Amino acid sequence: MRVVEVTAYGGPEVLSMARRPEPEAGDVPGKVRVRLKAAGVTVADLRIRAGRYVDAIGGLRPPFVLGTDFAGRLLDPAPGPTGTLEAGTRVAGFMPWFDELTGEGTYAEVVRVDPAWLAPIPEDVDFTAAASVPLAAITARQGLAKLDLPEGSTLLVTGASGVVGRFAVQLAAAAGLRVTGVSYEGDESELKVLGAEHVVPRGEPAKVLADVLAHAPERFDGVFDGALIGTPVLAALKDGGRFVSLAPDRTPTAERDIEVHTVVGRPDAAALAGILEQVSARELITRVADVMPLEEAAEAHKRAESGHRPGRIVLMI
Ligand SMILES: NC(=O)c1ccc[n+]([C@@H]2O[C@H](COP(=O)([O-])OP(=O)(O)OC[C@H]3O[C@@H](n4cnc5c(N)ncnc54)[C@H](OP(=O)(O)O)[C@@H]3O)[C@@H](O)[C@H]2O)c1
Repeated sequence: MRVVEVTAYGGPEVLSMARRPEPEAGDVPGKVRVRLKAAGVTVADLRIRAGRYVDAIGGLRPPFVLGTDFAGRLLDPAPGPTGTLEAGTRVAGFMPWFDELTGEGTYAEVVRVDPAWLAPIPEDVDFTAAASVPLAAITARQGLAKLDLPEGSTLLVTGASGVVGRFAVQLAAAAGLRVTGVSYEGDESELKVLGAEHVVPRGEPAKVLADVLAHAPERFDGVFDGALIGTPVLAALKDGGRFVSLAPDRTPTAERDIEVHTVVGRPDAAALAGILEQVSARELITRVADVMPLEEAAEAHKRAESGHRPGRIVLMI
């Protein structure tokens, strides 16, 4: 089967097409196979490829295959959240790449997955849209659950234009939180449609802080730090407020009785099934920035690193 391998740590040029044997039915107990149609390009993929996570990936060394988010068709029947998913069922999910450390990610034609990572894709959601959802939406949902803010609370979302940030804005607004987003300039109107009450352009931290506090003079009840700003954004929180970080190395030290949490997205098949139903019902909007063939994974990484992308870049397989 065709895969894209990281051949050495470095720039996008280290990504190279290769052939590997296709997994066989039942060759790894507990895993089922999915023939992929689409795979998302995540920020973690870029960092792993660049060698920024060498310590976190233990003994795994290039060549290996990247990729977390996926959408495709089951090759084997699998137990699902509400009964058996038959072979042929369209499914999406994300592979916890750092936990697995098999180096057999989703930039590939066929992957082995744990049925607990899978949810069926509703009929009217296409593979590329489905592959843009799992990691980001589940991380946003689990991050908001850690904040556990009551309805009517004020929430500041940094990186609101990002893939995770957009889901955080939508899920928070739907839960009755009053959201202020810090976003890429130009995304204001879209973020308001997604549910943000106020949108402030990203920029120099002191200016951003002044701008957001103009909308919440008493400061915010919570911060969802989708841009990994860390310590400087604590000043936007009330004493005793709640902060959630998306990266342990960007999690600030607590002060003023602020609760500080870190979220690491974990597969949750039932939650993902519900999220995909919401996407189907247009209650949740996902945005795909580009769809590119698997063969152009290096170009996809180049684009992802070149600055603001309005949504997930998805590889078509
Ligand atoms: N813990 C987990 O399980 C988990 C899961 C998924 C993602 N993550 C991490 O969470 C972060 C967000 O992921 P993502 O997929 O949403 O990435 P993304 O789409 O690249 O979004 C990041 C957003 O942050 C904005 N940003 C970056 N630096 C900023 C700054 N200094 N001030 C204001 N805004 C800034 C970016 O703005 P521009 O668009 O203008 O560049 C972008 O909108 C990544 O670091 C990712 O690795 C963690």
